[in-house]
Amino acid sequence: MARLVINEGNKVSRIEPEIYGHFSEHLGRCIYEGIFVGENSDIPNVNGMRTDVVEALKELKIPMLRWPGGCFADEYHWKDGIGPKENRKKMINTHWGGVVEDNSFGTHEFMELCRQLGCKTYINGNLGSGTVQEMSEWVEYMTFNGVSPMADLRAKNGHEEPWTVDYFGVGNENWGCGGNMTPQHYGNEYRRYQTYIRNYDQNKPVKKVCCGANVADYFWTEGVLETCFDHCPDFLHGFMDYLSLHYYVHPEGWDIKGSATDFNEEVWYKTLNKALYMDTLVSRHGAIMDQYDPEKKIGMCVDEWGAWYTCEPGTNPGFLYQQNTVRDALVAGITLNIFNKHSDRVKMAALAQMVNVLQSVLLTEGDKMIKTPTYHVMHMYRHHQGAELLESALTGVEEIGINEWKVPKLTESVSMDENGVITITMNNLSVEDAEEVEVILLEKGYHVVEAKIVTEEDFHAHNTFDAPEVVVEKDFQLYKLTDTGLLLTMPKNSVVEIRLAK
Ligand code: AHR
Repeated sequence: MARLVINEGNKVSRIEPEIYGHFSEHLGRCIYEGIFVGENSDIPNVNGMRTDVVEALKELKIPMLRWPGGCFADEYHWKDGIGPKENRKKMINTHWGGVVEDNSFGTHEFMELCRQLGCKTYINGNLGSGTVQEMSEWVEYMTFNGVSPMADLRAKNGHEEPWTVDYFGVGNENWGCGGNMTPQHYGNEYRRYQTYIRNYDQNKPVKKVCCGANVADYFWTEGVLETCFDHCPDFLHGFMDYLSLHYYVHPEGWDIKGSATDFNEEVWYKTLNKALYMDTLVSRHGAIMDQYDPEKKIGMCVDEWGAWYTCEPGTNPGFLYQQNTVRDALVAGITLNIFNKHSDRVKMAALAQMVNVLQSVLLTEGDKMIKTPTYHVMHMYRHHQGAELLESALTGVEEIGINEWKVPKLTESVSMDENGVITITMNNLSVEDAEEVEVILLEKGYHVVEAKIVTEEDFHAHNTFDAPEVVVEKDFQLYKLTDTGLLLTMPKNSVVEIRLAK
């Protein structure tokens, strides 16, 4: 039997809500069809945004949404996406399927989407192929309140009031699709571009995200930070608020990736082993950040994470459309527990991507929409948003797996919200066995206010448009209160959430 010991007397760090953020790129059917269908669509919508999708996303309490990319961001010219739709330029989306992008979803539409979702805005700027002036004017267009060329243009396009840009990414993957730069070159470009991202409203500063590393590229982290902090008097004045990190789980490697639904037990463990690698990445990049920023003023922002499989048979390979099984529920549960545990450094993250692309929370087909197993995990974990991480530790956890693909049988994280309610999220990574867990708390007298589970006997189980509720969040009953806490049974391949209050 494993044991989870919780010290609710020790609040370790705040779990910023933005760790539960999302990413929406002009890629495949994410924006078009998945979110935006236009005002004249037969699919129910409000100002062009699908009502079913917006309602489902609101239940997740989405804190922040990143847009317009991704690789798309460094080829996006924002002025193509404003003004009367019939005049908007059409372009080829060279990165993603070579399809025509008609720019009917632009800045105004993104801001309307975030208004409907009630979430913060994260705009990713174009450093790779755009100019400093273009980036600077975009920020002016969105946030300046007064008389200026860009504020006047915004008003002419129907939006008198400025919007709030909470986060601004200064380029995306500039080590790759964003310009193939060296860390030193990007570091210098970052210094220059960020200078012209003005805070027009001092009460709502635009927080800047510097492009961080791909996976284990520690030379990038070191090189960018060394270049940026060579001599930077502005450091404490909003020079860099976040440094990003991108990491995708490819079960069979980048070239082959592997099927989303057809895999054996060894690939199950391989996938989860790779998901657990996030812990190493966050720790090691974090250790480099500590050298430059020991007080942890710069947040790590894992603004692209998730499983990336071979796209579904018969779909456009450039659209990255994939199914989502119980295995993805575990990838999400494991990763979010890691972020919670590192919430002293990880301050923001974005699952890639929100609808119809990679590890999505929602899939659509025509007027139909389904929630994926990942959706249900995000829904259970929403209670961690804004709560305080509690000190907690597992003992007696077996190492399991096949061949070199070893994983601990259980992972967990625990938080306490402002009302003193404790949320425990735990995963059983085994495809074979359940596990008994004794949960021990410092204090007595708790009762269970909510207990939920996402699991299925068959680890390939997933939802389809014909059978949308195969894997859903269900009530969890395999627990009993004890003198010292709880005794529970974690079924195999399961993600469990339990909430306790006095
Ligand atoms: O999410 C898909 C792509 O993955 C993004 O456009 C890019 O930033 C990353 O390589």
